[in-house]
Amino acid sequence: MPDLDRVAYGLVKVHVREWLGYVWVCLAEEPPSFEETVLGAVTERLGALDLIDNYEPTTLDLGRRITYDVKANWKLIVENFMECYHCGTIHPELVEVLPEFADGYAAQYYVGHGALFGENIQGFTVDGSPGVDRIPSLADEQDRRYYAITIKPQVFINLVPDHVIIHRMFPLAVDRTIVECDWLFLPEVVASGKDLDKSVELFHRVNEQDFEACERCQPRMSSRVYADGGVLVPSEHHIGIFHDWVKDQIARAPAAR
Ligand SMILES: [Fe+2]
Repeated sequence: MPDLDRVAYGLVKVHVREWLGYVWVCLAEEPPSFEETVLGAVTERLGALDLIDNYEPTTLDLGRRITYDVKANWKLIVENFMECYHCGTIHPELVEVLPEFADGYAAQYYVGHGALFGENIQGFTVDGSPGVDRIPSLADEQDRRYYAITIKPQVFINLVPDHVIIHRMFPLAVDRTIVECDWLFLPEVVASGKDLDKSVELFHRVNEQDFEACERCQPRMSSRVYADGGVLVPSEHHIGIFHDWVKDQIARAPAAR
C-alpha cells in the first residue's frame, strides 16, 4: 500500500515523564503542568517537595510486586485511601502500628503530618517487629512515621523509614480496577536476600482489607440514592475536593461532550 501515509496512521503519541524511577504517561494532547499536578500533590501533602527525595526513591529497588484484581471503580479506591475512619474496624494490624489511625483521622488530612508509630513498635511490619535497614538520608522527623500521598488520578505513594510503597491503578471497567503495588527497598537490602515478608505483609493485608471493602461498596453505588455521590462529613473535605476535581476533568474532556 504505497499510498498509505504512515505518519497519519502511525502509533499515537503520548507525553511521558520519568520520576521516582517510573514512566508517567499523560494521554492529553496538551498535558497539564507535571510540576503543578503530580509534584504539586507531593508538596501539598508533605509541605515541601524535597522531603520525598530523602527517601531516595529513584535509587530504591523493587523488593516485591503484587497485582490485585479489584471488582470496584477506581474512584472508590481513591476515596477509600483518602480517609481512615474505616481503619479502626478493618485494619487491625495497621492501627496496631499506627495507633492514631484508630481514631479515624485521615493520614492526608493535615499538611506535613505523618502518622507516628506506636511506642512499642519497632518497624513498619505486620507484627511491629524491626523492619530492614532504614533509608539513611531521612530527616529525623521522618523516622518512625508513615506518610501517604494521593497523586490524582491513579497513583498512591506511601513512605515509611525503610521502604516506599507505590500503588498504580489501571481501570479496566466501571466496576473493575487492576492495582499494581510495588514495595521498594534499599538496593543492598534487596540484593542481600533479606526476608521482606513481614514488611510486605503489613500493607498487603491493608490492600486486601481495603479492596474487599471497596468491592462491598461497589454494588451500592449503583443506587439512585447515591447519584450525587453521597453525603460527606467535614473531615472528608479533601474527598469533596476529589469529587470536584473529577467533575472538572469530565467537563474539560473533549470526548465527554
Ligand atoms: Fe484502608
